Amino acid sequence: MPSMAQGGLNSSVQNNKPNPKSPTASLFSIRQKIAQHRKSLPIASVEKRLIEEVQKNDILIIVGETGSGKTTQLPQFLYNAGFCQEGKMVGITQPRRIAAVTVAKRVAEECDVELGQRVGYSIRFDDTTSTSTRLKYMTDGLLLREALLDPHLSRYSVIIVDEAHERTVHTDVLLALLKKVQRARLKPVGENGPQQNSVLRGCQGRKISPLKLIIMSASLDARVFSEYFGGAKAVHVEGRQHPVDILYTAHPESDYIDAALVTIFQIHLEEKVGDILVFLTGQDEIESVERLVQERLQHLPEDKRKLLPLTIFSALPSEQQMQAFAPAPTGFRKVILATNIAETSITIPGIRYVIDPGFVKARSYNPSKGMESLDVVPASKAQTLQRSGRAGREGPGKCFRLYPEREFEKLEDSTKPEIKRCNLSNVILQLKALGIDDIIGFDFIDKPSRGSIVKALEELRLLGALTDECKLENPVGYQMSRLPLDPVYSRALILANQMNCLEEMLITVAVLTVESIFYDPREKREEARASRNHFASVEGDHLTYLSVYRESDEFLEKRKVAGSENKIDKIMKKWCKDNFVNSRSLKHARDTYRQIREHVEQMGFTVSSCGNDMLEFRRCLAASFFLKAAQRQLDGTYRALESGEIVHIHPTSVLFRSKPECVIFNELMQTSKKYIKNLTIIDPLWLTELAPHHYKSAEPV
Ligand code: CDP
Ligand code: MG
Repeated sequence: MPSMAQGGLNSSVQNNKPNPKSPTASLFSIRQKIAQHRKSLPIASVEKRLIEEVQKNDILIIVGETGSGKTTQLPQFLYNAGFCQEGKMVGITQPRRIAAVTVAKRVAEECDVELGQRVGYSIRFDDTTSTSTRLKYMTDGLLLREALLDPHLSRYSVIIVDEAHERTVHTDVLLALLKKVQRARLKPVGENGPQQNSVLRGCQGRKISPLKLIIMSASLDARVFSEYFGGAKAVHVEGRQHPVDILYTAHPESDYIDAALVTIFQIHLEEKVGDILVFLTGQDEIESVERLVQERLQHLPEDKRKLLPLTIFSALPSEQQMQAFAPAPTGFRKVILATNIAETSITIPGIRYVIDPGFVKARSYNPSKGMESLDVVPASKAQTLQRSGRAGREGPGKCFRLYPEREFEKLEDSTKPEIKRCNLSNVILQLKALGIDDIIGFDFIDKPSRGSIVKALEELRLLGALTDECKLENPVGYQMSRLPLDPVYSRALILANQMNCLEEMLITVAVLTVESIFYDPREKREEARASRNHFASVEGDHLTYLSVYRESDEFLEKRKVAGSENKIDKIMKKWCKDNFVNSRSLKHARDTYRQIREHVEQMGFTVSSCGNDMLEFRRCLAASFFLKAAQRQLDGTYRALESGEIVHIHPTSVLFRSKPECVIFNELMQTSKKYIKNLTIIDPLWLTELAPHHYKSAEPV
């Protein structure tokens, strides 16, 4: 792999402070600062060579240290080199929504254009692009959806699959699809008589220019991609990395949250200037640490309180995400609480200290039981190395690993590709919709197990998306493939439309797609429960979510009469705080609701409500989620009917104490026990009535 030269240093950038007295001067110096920053990035010195490589090679693999400028600069190089002429676009895919958003904003700023003009992003439920957009940042999943509408991806001259090392299921499927599309675009379709390639259906005769593919990755192992693309060329962009001191704990920590807190304050009080980055596993954990930092700060003397906690995770609204990138106020130290998103997809300037508890939330899937779960598991060595690297971007740094050194050796080398550990029903439905019928023979970079493919096909068949021969032929299947949701949720909306409770189901699905609508501080759990009591429905969690959403709606309706957006936001936050509702999640759920509603309306559905007839709504939940039903046993535990597993009602469920006879649930979670979450009471007879194709022949329930 050829190595490329290192770029210049960017030390002058920080000294160039804007003059606050003169707006023009300050604007000028911001431009200057950006230009200098761009020039100082390692990738800047190899622009010409990279463009030559792209021109010479139809597939190019670029490997480069995090922060070297791959994501923000390469698309601009391509634009300047003429790859966006004649209305063509450069598409850049990211595994994570938040990376697509923050990077697009940054690039728009660098290009000095308004977001949505030359530079835009498009993620599920949020599209800022326009007909003028030439550099389009998006999630990998979104590009897959675009392929449904435009199988040739004909508006793109170049597609950059970024962060390919993450190996999300969408990245893997996208790589396979792009390989096909690229081959197809080399020759006009229809030349060789009948269709050979089903991806191209419907595009006969249209001449399309060739497609360039660039695969970018932060990890050093480009071999797997190179081999997959028939020995494609790989180039390596060198970054700069300062030395990072790695510190381990002497003994294992029983509570890594507490250990992280102690370490944050130890750094804050004892170490030199520099911001702190803490890797946590999810929104709940991040928000609870944020609160605990705030609380502990109150116990410090006034002059020691200059520590500013900021958070960064996927569901965070983008204005708040951007705060983590802004410099801390003078004299303050930032402590950024992030998920593994800050490992490679986004670079936050100013970090000198990294705290790594060594965990990550990962999906796992057991096809024989048909159960998917999201568990906190040890991070891999590759992830851990990326994390510590974040401390050495701008100078020598320190990384505090909250476990003993001997534990490091036990970690897996790298994370298993997601395609090998997730439920495939969603991607298989999409592949089918793209005309790819032979899933088992499909050219995946890493083949998913036969068992999980068979299971997904079976699930899609049971949901009515595929025929008994596993073909996508019926209208329900097409409708399901069009909705940007898990097939089971798409099916729920279609059923709700027939059962006249679409409004209720839209709200429920919106709430179920956000992390957690309730705000459940560990230390105030009882108080939270008591103050939320009035939302609780004796019939289950879905109805409870419905009443949270509706009460917030009514509350907002009342206040809307007076006040600006900002004021409403403030009032809403207060309402959420008083009711122990997570305001970020609620906002996200409201946005999601609006977007899915648009989708179903475009499909011709009329959104109707069942009013107070919750019985009909619960029947609809049973009809939708029949694959996840559980029945109480004599010993008080539950048996999941599909898998036969013994499960327990999660303590956060409103049904935790009442222990009803039969429930449907949406989530199975393994911690100390196997817990089911998001439950609604159903009558077991509904299963045989509403899902006879599945329950008639099964054991009596
Ligand atoms: O993709 P790669 O990790 O190689 O780097 P990048 O994301 O293009 O980031 C290049 C530089 O831009 C880094 O120094 C970041 O700190 C900076 N950047 C920024 O200041 N604000 C952003 N929103 C994104 C990047
Ligand atoms: Mg990047």
